[in-house]
Amino acid sequence: MPPPSRSLLWLGLVLGAVCASRGPAAPGNATDPLNVLLIIVDDLRPSLGCYGNKLIRSPNIDQLASRSLLFQNAFAQQAVCAPSRVSFLTGRRPDTTRLYDFNSYWRVHAGNFSTIPQYFKENGYVTMSVGKVFHPGISSNHSDDSPYSWSVPPYHPSSEKYENTKTCRGPDGELHANLLCPVDVVDVPEGTLPDKQSTEQAIQLLGKMKTSASPFFLAVGYHKPHIPFRYPKEFQKLYPLENVSLAPDPQVPTGLPLVAYNPWMDLRQREDIQALNLSVPYGPIPADFQRKIRQSYFACVSYLDTQVGRLLSALDDLQLASSTIVAFTSDHGWALGEHGEWAKYSNFDVTTRVPLMFYVPGRTAPLPVEGEKFFPYLDPFDSVSEVPEPGRQTGDLVELLSLFPTLAGLAGLRVPPRCPIPSFHMELCREGRNLLKLFEDHGEEEEPHVRSNPRELVAYSQYPRPADSPQWNSDKPSLEDIKVMGYSIRTVDYRYTVWVGFNPQEFLANFSDIHAGELYFVASDPLQDHNVYNDSQGGTLPQSFMP
Ligand SMILES: *[C@@H]1O[C@H](CO)[C@@H](O)[C@H](O)[C@H]1NC(C)=O
Ligand SMILES: *[C@@H]1O[C@H](CO)[C@@H](O)[C@H](O)[C@H]1NC(C)=O
Ligand SMILES: *[C@@H]1O[C@H](CO)[C@@H](O)[C@H](O)[C@H]1NC(C)=O
Ligand SMILES: *[C@@H]1O[C@H](CO)[C@@H](O)[C@H](O)[C@H]1NC(C)=O
Ligand SMILES: *[C@@H]1O[C@H](CO)[C@@H](O)[C@H](O)[C@H]1NC(C)=O
Ligand SMILES: *[C@@H]1O[C@H](CO)[C@@H](O)[C@H](O)[C@H]1NC(C)=O
Ligand SMILES: *[C@@H]1O[C@H](CO)[C@@H](O)[C@H](O)[C@H]1NC(C)=O
Repeated sequence: MPPPSRSLLWLGLVLGAVCASRGPAAPGNATDPLNVLLIIVDDLRPSLGCYGNKLIRSPNIDQLASRSLLFQNAFAQQAVCAPSRVSFLTGRRPDTTRLYDFNSYWRVHAGNFSTIPQYFKENGYVTMSVGKVFHPGISSNHSDDSPYSWSVPPYHPSSEKYENTKTCRGPDGELHANLLCPVDVVDVPEGTLPDKQSTEQAIQLLGKMKTSASPFFLAVGYHKPHIPFRYPKEFQKLYPLENVSLAPDPQVPTGLPLVAYNPWMDLRQREDIQALNLSVPYGPIPADFQRKIRQSYFACVSYLDTQVGRLLSALDDLQLASSTIVAFTSDHGWALGEHGEWAKYSNFDVTTRVPLMFYVPGRTAPLPVEGEKFFPYLDPFDSVSEVPEPGRQTGDLVELLSLFPTLAGLAGLRVPPRCPIPSFHMELCREGRNLLKLFEDHGEEEEPHVRSNPRELVAYSQYPRPADSPQWNSDKPSLEDIKVMGYSIRTVDYRYTVWVGFNPQEFLANFSDIHAGELYFVASDPLQDHNVYNDSQGGTLPQSFMP
């Protein structure tokens, strides 16, 4: 066990002061505001039992889903960490935060936009960040947007610094900086892993907040299954290689415009991938190694699931499950060999679709009765791991952007007003939908007009490129190198993407300057392998694009 960090001791003092500022109130009093626990996972696509995946062992997340409203069709606004996180944490699209890369802080670069935690903080919540919530670096001013977003300094696990170092034992017995990195946790530096540390810290904070008079907003950001796949090696046993299939469509599709493809350069930098002598930009990776990558990603998902399980069971033990909203999501997905890709950095469903679910006590599930275990820890290694009955689900198309208004609404705070266009001058407004209506159980009496018409719903995503064909910086072009922007809309029926000229000085997309297009129909081509954009030229295309 690592000793309690100095920041934690310090935190005790700060929280003591914050909490004393309000009179005592009984926890769980129905008139008290609800707490919020926001779990943000890095690079997690919805490969989970609760999303119908039969191979993945994710019993704890599935259990959360069984008590939640689960969104089957939720999409990130840009499939890369910093732009996606800044987008959903401010509730603005990348075209408003003007962050398409990692290199600017929206408050000085675009507008002084409020964030979800800032809004809760300004409404009397104690707001706390554990792990990777904001992307580190300049995109959050090297401070996770402190002090605006957080009541106390954000916590980062100390073992994070070993993620990219040589800590993976290879077949030669030496340590390497590999992609595939199953480890014996007692052997790694500090004898722990970042996500384990984050869980421990979050549980300690929950313990402190149990007796607090102020409600809390705790955001916990997990690192796995982001690469490298550094995880406790026992999780590999859950996925024997013979049980792991390849992606159903491991080839680069013939009709794919070159601008849509990205060459997954970060993967290629790992020592074990370098040793494969892959050709740039298309590979391919040998089939047996593809299986190993998928095996390790899935193992990371199960390892992540155990962390979520420990966190939720602690919430339960502290009797906070009846007074805490739990929201679970990811910043974007990840291609596991689909279209010959191994990364995010694109507009396909595999990289933009995210898991999204909200547990709201008494609303998505009955309130736990005194002493009832609501989120008991479930061991993914237990042989009987039936996926529990799903809770409520919706197939409505939603955007991650909607997290801000929806969390505000669920917690009973005033939902920020809709943003005007443009909204750079407005600190507090929302570009996303308030999804609160979807939480209402209309039952049999439901009037058809109350529901949104699913055919009218649209989710927007976008991705920038430095050139019309793949090159060294196509995955993550810096702002000044962006020449083309791929604007993509997903409806229940299709995904339609146009790649248009983009001027990074003026932040202007030129929709008369179309470089390429993609159109995929969900019913006939759910994996998005057969681009029918050219066939559709002649009037049936949606004309207007901009959100
Ligand atoms: C809940 O809080 C309200 C307002 O503080 C108080 O009047 C009421 O008695 C409390 N109810 C319970 C069950 O603690
Ligand atoms: C930006 O917003 C923060 C939080 O509301 C505020 O403290 C700060 O003064 C604002 N900065 C500017 C330049 O308006
Ligand atoms: C960003 O951080 C620097 C260094 O701490 C600080 O001086 C500056 O005021 C911060 N920017 C904003 C907009 O708060
Ligand atoms: C692997 O697949 C076989 C055959 O379907 C199945 O019996 C076995 O339980 C699977 N192993 C694991 C660990 O899931
Ligand atoms: C679509 O048309 C463009 C322009 O004629 C051409 O370059 C491209 O190869 C075509 N794509 C497919 C999938 O046929
Ligand atoms: C990769 O290239 C190196 C140097 O040419 C060679 O020694 C090695 O065997 C190659 N590896 C594979 C997997 O082809
Ligand atoms: C937009 O693209 C069209 C077609 O390439 C070009 O004629 C026009 O000048 C461009 N407009 C701007 C503002 O760059």
